[in-house]
Amino acid sequence: MIFNNHLPITKQVDRRILRRLFRMIGRYLNQNNSPDTPVLHYLEPDNLKKRMDLTIGEAGMDNEWLVKILRKYLRYSVRTTHRNFSNQLFSAFNFPSFIGEIIATLTNTTMATYEAAPLGTLIEQEIIDKMNRLIGFKTEDNPADGIMVPGGSYANLMGLMCARYKAVPETKEKGINGIQFRAFVSDEAHYSFKKMMNVLGLGTNALTEIPSDEHGRIKTDLLENAIKQSLKRGEKPFFIGATAGTTVYGAFDPFREMAAIARKYNLWLHVDGAWGGTLLLYKNKKSKELLDGIQLADSFTWDAHKMMGVPLYASFFLCKHDGLMHQCNAVQGAEYLFHSTENTAFDTGPKSLQCGRRVDALKVWLAWKFYGDKGYHDMITDLYSKVNYLKKLINQNPWFELINDPQYFNVCFRVVHPKIDIDLNEINLEIRERLFKSGNYFTNYSVSKSGTVFFRLIVNPNSTKNDYRNFLNKVIGMTEAILKEKYLPDSSARVFD
Ligand SMILES: Cc1ncc(COP(=O)(O)O)c(C=O)c1O
Repeated sequence: MIFNNHLPITKQVDRRILRRLFRMIGRYLNQNNSPDTPVLHYLEPDNLKKRMDLTIGEAGMDNEWLVKILRKYLRYSVRTTHRNFSNQLFSAFNFPSFIGEIIATLTNTTMATYEAAPLGTLIEQEIIDKMNRLIGFKTEDNPADGIMVPGGSYANLMGLMCARYKAVPETKEKGINGIQFRAFVSDEAHYSFKKMMNVLGLGTNALTEIPSDEHGRIKTDLLENAIKQSLKRGEKPFFIGATAGTTVYGAFDPFREMAAIARKYNLWLHVDGAWGGTLLLYKNKKSKELLDGIQLADSFTWDAHKMMGVPLYASFFLCKHDGLMHQCNAVQGAEYLFHSTENTAFDTGPKSLQCGRRVDALKVWLAWKFYGDKGYHDMITDLYSKVNYLKKLINQNPWFELINDPQYFNVCFRVVHPKIDIDLNEINLEIRERLFKSGNYFTNYSVSKSGTVFFRLIVNPNSTKNDYRNFLNKVIGMTEAILKEKYLPDSSARVFD
């Protein structure tokens, strides 16, 4: 049996390949559950290139090659759904969304118009409505709006664009026209804001980064001062970017205070909840406290590909002001695409920056429908319990130091030596490097404003408390080894019981 409707038509793919590939996927997923499976096989680029012929030739390859090469690809790719992967803000395998991704590709269409993606359009709208209700943007009197975009960085761009349009609508046609715009975020905000200032032609220097406090929350008195200074200089402040769940510390800015400042100076308030938005599904007073005041914002970024476990990308830009995205983005010249039919009102293309847009909504919807709000609430409950466990282990061992009290799922800590004065940055970097190269654990590190190197471990839905205990033991073992090799030939470290 062969698939007969594929490209190029001169080549045939054996139908049995599908069954073989799905069996391979099943094996791969099972392996991810075993702590004995390496998270990665790290190779230097030159070495990696030697393992696989990457060149594209004249003749093409056969069916058997397809299976072999995909097996190899899986072998040398980082297993981000492995229980010991805690490097990025995404992890864990989500079966409904995995299938949703495949089906979206199978039915490959564009979300630009309702007629090309009827169900995709309605599904996306349903999720946007739900998210807007959770945030508090959508009420009986306010429909609110939103769109899926390729990444949280892009959603932050949409926030900046809508804010600039709201402040000076003529920028859409005339550009910035000499206006010295100014935007404000904290020094813990995601770097995408800076990139997007460049994209919008405002310049990275027009973004002021306000210092944050010891918890990673923006200092609102400094924010207000900076706005006053900008006004004094004759600039046009237009945007405040708050963060719900900062990238490094998982901190939540004081949204209510920021909203009051935004209102006072008539600025747009955008909340970057790429990482922390999913906390809205946690029915606990902690989420109410951390997210207090978000409904007062004008727009919101929410990445379902982070905490919700949906494959990249699954990002939402949510806007309180219905119709504004359309005004800001719609242009003439697309008559070939946007016909006036009875369902034109459902076309999402005009309010989007993209033309072709994937049906990313399907994978989010399948996962959310499958697990329900409760599934995510339970997952978050479990994650907090693992955070508390890790915190306890770290606090009770004099070889470790917590960098801050985690509010979310970023556990930041470092190895210290209780007695001896050694270069801790060097040791922490070396431990991280050895862990990574061993292939057993993949955990990230960062550097504080004062130059302290520390681990940033993102707690993983797949992992167990025992995995974290083993991880810390491994870190201690490596510390011992490094100390013995390099600093203290006769040191003895305390290991967990
Ligand atoms: C707080 C925050 N905002 C935005 C982003 C960017 O999201 P994306 O990687 O989807 O572009 C990140 C990425 O880690 C983030 O942590």
